[in-house]
Amino acid sequence: MSDEQPALHDGDLRLRPWTVADVEATRLLHDAEIAHWFDVAATPPTSEHHRSWVEQTHAEWSDARAKVTFLVEWRGAPAGSVDVRRRSDGVGVLSWVTYAPYRGRGVASRAVRLLVDWAFTDLGLRRVEAEVNPLNRASLRTALWAGLRREGLLRGNTTLGGEVHDTVVLGRLADDPAPGTREGFTAMLDSVLPTKRVIGQGLIRDAAGNVLLCEPVYKRDWDLPGGVVDPGEPPRDCVAREIREELALEVTVGRLLATNWLAPWLGWGDAVLFVYEVETPTPAALARVRLLEREIRAVHWVAPHELSGRVAPYNERMLTSLASAGAGHATLELADGLPVR
Ligand SMILES: CC(C)(COP(=O)(O)OP(=O)(O)OC[C@H]1O[C@@H](n2cnc3c(N)ncnc32)[C@H](O)[C@@H]1OP(=O)(O)O)[C@@H](O)C(=O)NCCC(=O)NCCS
Repeated sequence: MSDEQPALHDGDLRLRPWTVADVEATRLLHDAEIAHWFDVAATPPTSEHHRSWVEQTHAEWSDARAKVTFLVEWRGAPAGSVDVRRRSDGVGVLSWVTYAPYRGRGVASRAVRLLVDWAFTDLGLRRVEAEVNPLNRASLRTALWAGLRREGLLRGNTTLGGEVHDTVVLGRLADDPAPGTREGFTAMLDSVLPTKRVIGQGLIRDAAGNVLLCEPVYKRDWDLPGGVVDPGEPPRDCVAREIREELALEVTVGRLLATNWLAPWLGWGDAVLFVYEVETPTPAALARVRLLEREIRAVHWVAPHELSGRVAPYNERMLTSLASAGAGHATLELADGLPVR
């Protein structure tokens, strides 16, 4: 690698090393937005302070590229600064700033993308990462457009303005698909889209119309057999798997009776429930039921008029909707247990 820090180009955008000649032109571009997110004073740095910072960027380049800082030029004018600091072997931490007159036109996202490509090819990094305050929306979007994926949330790990804040960790690996490609775009979006829980349950009825309910060990309310659908698992397979695990029963899962959107409940986020008809097991099969003791205390056949107080209110609404739909009804669309239309 050359001993000179290079300049990198992308159309109107240029990344180049800082020089002491930039000090006066950029010093007063420090503003309240930068001060807020970096938790520093809002007053611009003095000329001396800013000059020594520029000199420090040169020293860091010379010190085995411990940190590499580029001035971002937009059509020849200083528009911001981006840097990558080595955290450990092969891993760099990114940071970025766009000065106020240049914000909102893609300067930061393009500059960071350019920096990241260079860091992979010329610095030989295998991973870049960034730590962003979840309230800093512009910064989160800058990272995502530069191909970083949201990887997690560190709760209460930092302070800002004297208050405790969370941190979002985003990262990109050298062999991740590039942000401009379909695969890269999908992976980026997939990392930030909501993850709503999907639940699959089975409705088992006896000849008299009683419903089979499980009495769980971990909550007061009785519930239909079933559970949370695993990643990559179709909801109907989940029902068969859960009944096998909870009751040691092999069942035939029939048609979809209802979908039911579940509102947030007792600290759980909202969810979508798929309820399937399950063929009534033979008396011989029922006699072989073995309960998964760490989850199920007992099973009960419950008549529709006995549901109240046994199941959670949202479940009572759903089971009542199902019972009053009549035999052979079309799949119901329910929200919070009640028909949507
Ligand atoms: C964060 C910052 C660098 C973004 O710079 P920028 O050049 O305006 O960013 P871009 O134009 O590339 O925009 C990136 C994304 O942020 C969005 N964005 C920009 N300003 C925004 C704002 N004030 N609020 C919400 N979103 C904003 C843009 O719309 C774009 O997303 P989109 O294309 O999906 O709509 C700039 O606002 C800044 O310097 N802030 C202060 C310093 C800072 O927070 N640094 C990062 C610390 S981790």
